[in-house]
Amino acid sequence: MRDESAALVEHARAARRQAHAPYSHFRVGAAVLDDKGQIHTGCNVENAALPEGICAETNAIGSMVAAGGRKIVGIAIVGGAGQLENVTPCGGCRQRIREFADADTEILLLRADGRVTGFTIDELLPESFHL
Ligand code: THU
Repeated sequence: MRDESAALVEHARAARRQAHAPYSHFRVGAAVLDDKGQIHTGCNVENAALPEGICAETNAIGSMVAAGGRKIVGIAIVGGAGQLENVTPCGGCRQRIREFADADTEILLLRADGRVTGFTIDELLPESFHL
């Protein structure tokens, strides 16, 4: 994963440019690396009916599943209104990441100062429900 980390963050940045966030102005991009080495991206897609908005991570995971991927090796998430800000996945997205993650899955968050910090799913969603 180390080798792919920078590329994954770059894909997330590129996806963020496509975000549809006219209501919050908080633009998010996510990029998932699956176990076949493929990268799948997503951005947040908001809606005038506000609860119908969809998070970037959810769209990236859906894209992975549609392409046949079933394991998240790594996921990079970037976001912010204007400048990049600290971003961390919402509770629902943590559970969706959990569905396709294991103990080795790297969850990379771009911080406002440009650093990338890595987390495991157990750190972000301890004692998670999983079948
Ligand atoms: N959002 C994401 O897409 N992913 C996150 O990790 C945090 C929040 C979106 C939802 C909404 O469109 C906007 O960011 C503000 O909450």
